[in-house]
Amino acid sequence: MSTQIREIDNYFSVKVELLPLGVAIPCDVFIQEEGEIKTILKKGEHFSLDIKNTLKDKKIEMVHVNQGDKKIFQNFIFEFKPKEYFNNILDRYTINNEFYYKIEKECLNPEIPINFSLYVHDGSNFQLLLEASEENPKNISQGQLIEGDILISKRDLNLYKDYLQKLIKENKTEPKILKETTKLLLREIYSEPTNRKNLLILGDKIEEIINYGTLESKMIENLLIMKKLDNYNYVHSLNVMALSLSLGLKIKLEKEELRLLGLASALHDIGKTRISPLILSKLGKLSEKEFQIYKTHVIESVKIAKELGLSDKVIDGIAHHHEKLNGTGYPFRLKGEQISFFGKIIAIADAYEMLTTPKAMKYALTPYNALMILVQDKGCYDKSLLQTFIKMLGRII
Ligand SMILES: [Fe+2]
Repeated sequence: MSTQIREIDNYFSVKVELLPLGVAIPCDVFIQEEGEIKTILKKGEHFSLDIKNTLKDKKIEMVHVNQGDKKIFQNFIFEFKPKEYFNNILDRYTINNEFYYKIEKECLNPEIPINFSLYVHDGSNFQLLLEASEENPKNISQGQLIEGDILISKRDLNLYKDYLQKLIKENKTEPKILKETTKLLLREIYSEPTNRKNLLILGDKIEEIINYGTLESKMIENLLIMKKLDNYNYVHSLNVMALSLSLGLKIKLEKEELRLLGLASALHDIGKTRISPLILSKLGKLSEKEFQIYKTHVIESVKIAKELGLSDKVIDGIAHHHEKLNGTGYPFRLKGEQISFFGKIIAIADAYEMLTTPKAMKYALTPYNALMILVQDKGCYDKSLLQTFIKMLGRII
């Protein structure tokens, strides 16, 4: 796949073909000509065929956008070219002409050789940490895993998946590895929601987690400790799944019930893939109209779950994850026992996860403060489930 976006100094560069024709562009667009940066489109101007042809005549293939407009631009591309968005800018790192994926450094094992390169990003600096390839695999030492995010090139995602499989084969089936493989899988599912093949694999993963969880009570702690600061839809869903399954294990649900709960919680927000990212990532409060649109993600999730042929129990869990016991939730304003059992579990896990994850411009609450908010909203959540949830987390936080 040719790279369509890259970053230079204060600008990031975009292939001309990525710009949708005949549409107002939400930010200034520049070209580099004779060593100078010149404005080609002012914010709000349409990208016309004339301009496209001019660029073609000048043999200009890349245009540039201010770094400060990156978020607006990404949202815009998602709006008009969602497939390109997922292929190119779903994840945070687009550095030096490449796309990167953040991996869990806890999953790197010094004993197993790595056949892909690792990079580190400490918030401002980005550098190669370990140069490795299939021809030249290398081991990483614990001392090399310094502060910062560890990244791999997205081209190496399959090699990383194979690496995780190797760890599993070497009997290193630890919760963190299970969680990392599930995260990769959810990333794919949230990019291509109606692909049934991935859904079957997800079912297997959930079973692995449950089997591990029933054997090993530390599973719950390990699943929850892995909660990270990533703010992507699929990571949120993974955390909600971990919390829901932990609560399910705690109340000793049957294995089959746990499997269904795992599916419902993993896919509860899958409908967000059909909501404009302009709304999903808006800074500050949504307008009334925007909130109405936001709320439709529940119905969209239900539609996808039906398209996937999931069972009624799973669909009800998804459908009710924003309902509140006192009838103030949405979309159906259900009350008390009208809300499904899975819906009640996922509602608690979802609310807790949202409160403890930092959003743009907003600090995350500590686990303690988040639980306090849930308790104060006790008219909203099932009392007994909430008590168990608090006790479960109380051992860890
Ligand atoms: Fe939701």
